[in-house]
Amino acid sequence: MQRSLYTGSQLERVLSVDEMRAVAKRRVPNFCFEFLDGGAEDETSLRRNRSVFSEIGLRPHALVDISQRHTSTSILGEASASPFMIGPTGFSGLLSDKGDLALASAASDSNIPYVLSNVSTVSIEEICEATNARVWMQVYMYRNREFVERMVDRLLKTRVDTLVFTIDNPVHGKREWDVRCYRRPLKLTIPNMLDAAMHPRWLLDVLWPNGVPRFANLGDLLPPGQDDVRGAAQALASQLSASLSWEDVRWLRERWPHKLIIKGLLNKDDVLKAADYGADSVILSNHGGRQLDGALSAMEVLPEVIEALNGRIPVIVDGGFRRGSDIVKAIALGAEAVSLGRATSYGVAAAGQQGVQRVINILNDEIDRVLGLLGCNSLAELTPDHLEWRR
Ligand SMILES: Cc1cc2nc3c(=O)[nH]c(=O)nc-3n(C[C@H](O)[C@H](O)[C@H](O)COP(=O)(O)O)c2cc1C
Repeated sequence: MQRSLYTGSQLERVLSVDEMRAVAKRRVPNFCFEFLDGGAEDETSLRRNRSVFSEIGLRPHALVDISQRHTSTSILGEASASPFMIGPTGFSGLLSDKGDLALASAASDSNIPYVLSNVSTVSIEEICEATNARVWMQVYMYRNREFVERMVDRLLKTRVDTLVFTIDNPVHGKREWDVRCYRRPLKLTIPNMLDAAMHPRWLLDVLWPNGVPRFANLGDLLPPGQDDVRGAAQALASQLSASLSWEDVRWLRERWPHKLIIKGLLNKDDVLKAADYGADSVILSNHGGRQLDGALSAMEVLPEVIEALNGRIPVIVDGGFRRGSDIVKAIALGAEAVSLGRATSYGVAAAGQQGVQRVINILNDEIDRVLGLLGCNSLAELTPDHLEWRR
């Protein structure tokens, strides 16, 4: 268990993911919170990711014996205690010391999958060594394909059995909040520097141990000694591959012998193509509203994707999930699982591993309650008939 600045009883008083967000906002400096919370441009997709859930009503069945209910399920063929996993979020070390390890440890303790981001500050080897988590690894495609090839070779020496290939960033989304905090690249504005100085607990937790966190998974993409933020920012800016295409999916499929998931699709024809190219699953996602502003939310395309696939491959969905009822709605529409982004990251920012654990517990409790109130004993009993979509 990693140390936490909050006691268990204080965290017990955090009752919802939104309340955890409020704690996170107080605990980390403004520039960190903006990095975590913001979306691209006018943040319409960010808001859409949340508002979609209020358009979907729940239709309960009455007088059902729900005394045997449980929230366990199977995700890509393996047992999971809950129908959600922790998705990839880069640079979590900025929110809490070894933030990736905090996320992985909580996932391990909760028996749900964890996806380590390619731009994490803890290496995949350390995560595998230090936790028993069911770890999946996310990668981007770089101009230098050799880097991805070496990453695959590294992964083959670990117990990682699932690779998540994120394809929705052939160019970087326009995240204006990220620019606004800096007077020039990587130099905070004076108000943001003063604001950081006013957060001594964050300074002690994050900056004090080892300085600004470094990137532990970009390996030889970065020149020697350049694993700091500047080196990584330069490398990522120059290495993001604008020529990304289905050929890259084919290329990766040929090299990776285990499960391959394509993350960032929002179009049913693309999902069918992903299945044709040998993907084992897809994550429908608009990258938490951080890439194409105005993009549909994954929940909006989920029904047509499920219909078009007709069971060929399982579908995971992300974007805006903050309540157990949101997760239940996705499962009722046919999703295999939900991938969490900010929800668990608020937990990391608020209180490290304990904060993540609290978020997982809150969501599990809410799912259990919603199942019961809907008249279901298990997630498998959920169907689209439990929902009414009003537009
Ligand atoms: C701070 C932050 C960092 C992220 N980093 C990555 C990343 O490294 N790789 C990736 O595929 N997606 C990344 N994402 C996108 C998430 O995996 C996910 O698609 C999104 O956060 C889901 O929306 P939600 O935050 O509303 O749950 C990131 C999201 C956030 C908020």
